[in-house]
Amino acid sequence: MGRLAFFIESLKNIKSVGTVTRSSRYLCQAVVKEAQLKNTRVIVELGAGDGVMTRHLLKAMPQDAVLFSFEINEVFCQQMSKIKDSRLRIINDSAEKLPDILEAAGFRSVDVIASALPFSVFPEQLTQSIVKMSHQLLKHNGRFVQIHYSLKTRNIYQNIFGNIKTSMEVRNIPPAFVLTCIKKD
Ligand SMILES: C[S@@+](CC[C@H](N)C(=O)[O-])C[C@H]1O[C@@H](n2cnc3c(N)ncnc32)[C@H](O)[C@@H]1O
Repeated sequence: MGRLAFFIESLKNIKSVGTVTRSSRYLCQAVVKEAQLKNTRVIVELGAGDGVMTRHLLKAMPQDAVLFSFEINEVFCQQMSKIKDSRLRIINDSAEKLPDILEAAGFRSVDVIASALPFSVFPEQLTQSIVKMSHQLLKHNGRFVQIHYSLKTRNIYQNIFGNIKTSMEVRNIPPAFVLTCIKKD
């Protein structure tokens, strides 16, 4: 999908997409670096958009790993279905369904969750419940990596994970934060 098509689709659904520009390759690379995908088996992407980050995750993850990419927008999912990779499972449903989808696929926990969900425009309770669910599903030392354009919800991650690392990617429009939490308990 071209940038203009992404812009138009995002504008039509601004309340659920939360931006009109997709992540730059610099931001995708920053997320992949924080995700540390080398020895992973189960990876989850929340808010996959048209698959810009998905492609970077697939490139970096092991050949025997699986990637569950959640996206509620059907047009974006159609774009993602052009990615031909047997490791990718596109889920055209809400991130809240993650536990059910994982269980149905025979997995109980995950190594990494990379999220671009626009939590800044979500009700706080929904953000809380998705972040808590993510924390529960991660393995010990599993990583939760979230991109954001503001630090409005930073305390939610800090409170649930007990740790957070923040970095900034200025080569993105707009400049974006990458927040990384590690499951320690
Ligand atoms: C900021 S965009 C990120 C798109 C892409 N990952 C990127 O980095 O450019 C957020 C995406 O989350 C999706 N989204 C919003 N609420 C969602 C939900 N509850 N479950 C799954 N995806 C959701 C939107 O449709 C949108 O595509």
